[in-house]
Amino acid sequence: MMQKKNISISFEEYSSVDELSSTDRNLCLESVNAMASSYSPYSGFRVGVAVILSSGKIVYGSNQENGAYPSGLCAERVALFAIGSSYPNDKIVSMAISAQTDHFEIKEPVTSCGACLQVMAEYEKKQSSLINVLFYCPNGSIIRTVGIKSLLPFAFTETRLQK
Ligand code: THU
Repeated sequence: MMQKKNISISFEEYSSVDELSSTDRNLCLESVNAMASSYSPYSGFRVGVAVILSSGKIVYGSNQENGAYPSGLCAERVALFAIGSSYPNDKIVSMAISAQTDHFEIKEPVTSCGACLQVMAEYEKKQSSLINVLFYCPNGSIIRTVGIKSLLPFAFTETRLQK
């Protein structure tokens, strides 16, 4: 018999960085600085990411586009793959994401694409501890989630690869 089911997710919304912990506030502001290295001549849309690891190290990422459009990569995955390759045993505690475009004013937090969420889910599983994500809009609010399940409740997990 068909059953209707619900998944409820929760998130925090802040109206200003002043309401955040000093670590989260710093991470949000660092994500804005990370936009400086965005290479986005095709979309004109700059995305910056700052990730804090359990060692206290902060790793940055920005979107890197390519003339062969699908060869480019989102800022989130640039940062996460840099961590996976350079700091494979350091756990990801929190990541902040912000975006900007010359074409219009962004007034709401820009949330990550599904492929980036899937990669976040993978690293969360790998490290066995939750990742906090902050979507920061300098001209608007901040969304904060605890754990990727709130962002991607139906994430694919490698258990599906096993019999
Ligand atoms: N982009 C990101 O960096 N992160 C996302 O989660 C979504 C989109 C980038 C990809 C592309 O360079 C530009 O934003 C426009 O899609």
